[in-house]
Amino acid sequence: MTRVGAVATKKEIIYESRFAFYIPTAAVASQLNTKASHVFLESLNQYHTLSGTSRAFLIRLVDFKYASTFLDQLASLEASFVVVVPVVESHSYWGVLRQYQSQFAYVLQPKLRLSADWVKRYKSLTYIAILILNDFDEDLAVKATQPDLIVYSEDIDNNLVSRAHSYAKSITEKIANAKFINHFIDPLQPLTQQMPLEVYETFEKDQPKYKAYEEAIDLALHDLLIQRKRKLRVLVVGPGRGPLLATAAKRLQQIELTAVEKNPLCISQLQELNRTSWDSKVTIYEGDIRILAASLGDFDLVISELIGSFGCNEACPEILQALAKPNTVMIPQTIQSFITPAFCSLVEGNITRPYLLNSDECFPVAETQQVFEFSFPNNAKFDQSFQHTFALNSLDVSNTLVGNFKANLYGHISIGSTSSDSTTFVCSSWYPMIFPIQTVETKIELLFRRISSHDRLWYEWTVNGSKMNAQGVEYSIPLS
Ligand SMILES: C[S@@+](CC[C@H](N)C(=O)[O-])C[C@H]1O[C@@H](n2cnc3c(N)ncnc32)[C@H](O)[C@@H]1O
Repeated sequence: MTRVGAVATKKEIIYESRFAFYIPTAAVASQLNTKASHVFLESLNQYHTLSGTSRAFLIRLVDFKYASTFLDQLASLEASFVVVVPVVESHSYWGVLRQYQSQFAYVLQPKLRLSADWVKRYKSLTYIAILILNDFDEDLAVKATQPDLIVYSEDIDNNLVSRAHSYAKSITEKIANAKFINHFIDPLQPLTQQMPLEVYETFEKDQPKYKAYEEAIDLALHDLLIQRKRKLRVLVVGPGRGPLLATAAKRLQQIELTAVEKNPLCISQLQELNRTSWDSKVTIYEGDIRILAASLGDFDLVISELIGSFGCNEACPEILQALAKPNTVMIPQTIQSFITPAFCSLVEGNITRPYLLNSDECFPVAETQQVFEFSFPNNAKFDQSFQHTFALNSLDVSNTLVGNFKANLYGHISIGSTSSDSTTFVCSSWYPMIFPIQTVETKIELLFRRISSHDRLWYEWTVNGSKMNAQGVEYSIPLS
C-alpha cells in the first residue's frame, strides 16, 4: 500500500489523521514529547545544532549541479540521511545518484514531466518515497519497492493532500497489476528435470502463445495437406499436459498423431485426454525423443515448444536434431536470440552467472542485436558465436546484457518475449535472461559464444577482454 506522509512544518499537523507518517522540521521536533524517526533539516547548518539530539535526518539537495559535493559532505557526517533529490534529465547527475545510492536513502522530487526513457532510468535507482509539490507523474511511483508519497508545504494545501491520497490509491492498484518480480530466478531445465504440474498450469495462462501456435499449426497442416495429398504423420514433442496436442488433434481425420513426452507426471493426464477427447487415436510415448526418434519413422510435421528465455537455452537445437529429415516441416521453423546492453541496479556486483529477471529496475543503454539463429530442421550448428561493438551514450553505464528470443513458428506467425515488430505475438511466460558484466562505460566490445558438448551446453561472454563463465564453470545446462 502506497502511504501518504508529510513534512510537518507545524505541530498541529501531527495531530491530524490525514497522514500515515510525519517528518517534523527541527522546530516542530523540539516541541514533541516523543522522538521522531527523522527530522527535516532546512539546511545543513541546522545539523550542527541538532546533531547531539537526533541521528536520522531528511534533507533536500537544492542544486543538482553540486550533487557530488553535497553528498560527499553528508557522507562525512556521523548520522544517517534520507536525501530529497531533484529529478533532472542529466546523465552525469543521474550517475552521481547511482554511485551514492548504497550510502543514502533517496526521496525523489520530480519537477518537469520525464520522457519514457528517463522514467525507466530513474526507476532503476533505489528510492523510498516521492516528494510531491503539485502535479505529479505517477509512473515513477509504480515500482515494485512501492515508494511512499510525501507532501511538503509551509501550509499544507487541502487539494494537494486529497490528490496525494487518490494518487496513492491508483498507484497501489497499478503496482498490483504490474507483476514485477525483482529477484533472480534459476532458469528451468525441462530436459533434465521433472517439472511439477503446477508449472504447466502457469505456462497455459499465456494466451498469445497458444493462439500463435494454433494459427501456425492450422496453416502448416493446410499447406501440407494440399502439397502431399495424403494422411499426414504429425509428431508433438514435449506436449506437457496437452494444449498443443489438443490443437493438432482437431484434425485427427486427416492426420496420424503421435506424442512423445519425457515427464512421467504428464503421461497419465495425456492418456486420460486421449481416452476422453480423442477416441484413443493419439499414440503417446513416455521417453526422450532423442532416444525414441530412430524407431518412430519420418514425420511430415513436428510441433514442439522447447524454447527458453534466450531461445536456445533449453537445448532445442540438440533435442530436435534427432528429427531433422529433409521432408519434415517443423514448428517452430527458426529461433533467434537477442542481446540488449542494459543497466540494472539489482545486478551491481551481485551475480556472476545468468538468471531470469523480470524487473522494473533495468533499462536499455544501447541497441538490440541478434546473436544466434537456429533453423529447423537444422544444420547441426550447435556452437555459434557473435561479435559486436556496442557504443553507449556518453556518460552512460552498463552492467548487464539482457537476452530475449523470437521464434518464427510458421509462415508469417512469430512469437517473442518482447515486442520486436507488430506481427509478433508477445508472450508472457518468458522472463528475460540476464548475463551480468563488469560495469562498463562508453563501449562494449562483445564476443558471445554458445558452446555445446556431448553432455552440457553453456554460454561464454567476453566484454572488453574480460571473459565470464569460461568453460561453463559458473553455469551450464545439462544435456543428460
Ligand atoms: C516448455 S514445456 C512445454 C509444454 C507444452 N508444449 C506447453 O506448451 O504447455 C516443454 C516440454 O517438453 C518436454 N521435453 C523436454 N525435452 C524433451 C525430450 N528430449 N523428449 C521429450 N520431451 C521433452 C518437457 O518435459 C516439457 O513437458
